[in-house]
Formats: sequence, C-alpha cells, structure tokens
Amino acid sequence: MRITAIYPGSFDPITHGHKDIVIRASRLFERVVVAVAASTTKHTVFTSDERVAFAQTVFDGVPNVTVCSFDGLLADAAREHRASVILRGLRAVSDFEHEFQMAGMNRKLVPEADTLFLTTAEQYGYISSSLVREVASLGGDVSEFVHPAVVEALNRRLPRHG
Ligand code: COA
Repeated sequence: MRITAIYPGSFDPITHGHKDIVIRASRLFERVVVAVAASTTKHTVFTSDERVAFAQTVFDGVPNVTVCSFDGLLADAAREHRASVILRGLRAVSDFEHEFQMAGMNRKLVPEADTLFLTTAEQYGYISSSLVREVASLGGDVSEFVHPAVVEALNRRLPRHG
C-alpha cells in the first residue's frame, strides 16, 4: 500500500529526536510529510519559515520526506496531503494521555486517517525543543541534540543568560 504519513509539530526547533522518528518512518511509508504548525498555542522563538527551513536542511537528500507548514487544523492538512497516517512520537508515559486525546479528536475530525506512534529512540527520550532552547540560552552545548545550522541560529537568536 502506498501510504503517506504526516508528522506534525511545532518544531521550535527540530531536534535529533524528531529526525530519528522521521527517518525510521521514511522506511515504513511511501512518503512522510513533516508538517510544521505555523501558529501554535506556544510562543515560538523561530518563525514558521525558519522552522520549515531548518527541517528542510535536516531532511535534505532524503527523497521521500517533504516539509510543509500548515495553519489551522492538522486534520485539514492531513486531508490536503492525502495522508492516511498521522505519525507521532512517544517519549515517555507522560506523553500518552495528551496523545490519546489528540488521536481521538483527530479520528473524529479526519476518520480516514489513523494515528500511529513510534517510540522515540532511548537516547533522545529526554530531549524537547524547549529544553534545547533553555540549555542554549544558558550557554550549554546543544550540538548533540540539533543540526549545526540550528545550533548557529540558536546562538544568534537567544539572549545569553549563562
Ligand atoms: N524527540 C524529541 N522531542 C520531541 C519528540 C521527539 N521524538 N516528540 C515530541 N517532542 C517534543 C517537542 O519538541 C515538543 O517540545 P516543546 O514542548 O518543548 O516545544 C514537545 O515534545 C511536545 O511535542 P508535541 O506534542 O509534538 O507538540 P508540538 O507543539 O510540537 O505539536 C501539534 C503539537 C502542532 C501537533 C498540535 O498542537 C496540532 O496538531 N495543532 C494543530 C491544530 C489542531 O489540529 N488542533 C487539534 C488537535 S487534536
């Protein structure tokens, strides 16, 4: 079956944890669409265009991965890209409740798509975008967690407190 999976997130910024999920998914599905939420309830440090550009850099050369941004409902973006899978990563049990709720709501909004979960590789289980931003802003080295282009952008963008 030729399945397109959509992987949504705010990606502020994209991390190696996200990359791990997408690369593994790219071996399972014909196409993976990394869908950057343009506006989220979170205050983002990077603009939607910047977050898309980082993701494009990370997946440059991976033929079946594309990056887009979406505004509004994920369900509409899934339909637009003809995705029958909504892909999510699970890092810890604490992710589960929220994911379970979102999967249920998305099933209602877009019944033709199913939410599938991949467990995050253990070495990335503790990473989140906000922790990466915090560590960078305090002068910590985040090169183990994000692409070099993102390290550079974080160093330029974030006020240094460390
Ligand atoms: N590796 C590393 N970090 C990961 C990760 C992984 N595999 N998976 C998730 N994370 C991190 C994210 O970076 C994020 O970090 P942060 O909170 O510090 O920013 C955190 O875990 C939570 O990630 P996630 O649950 O994916 O939240 P998000 O803000 O990135 O994305 C949307 C949420 C965009 C998918 C969701 O709000 C959405 O679908 N919005 C569109 C509107 C809509 O349709 N609403 C109804 C939904 S039912």
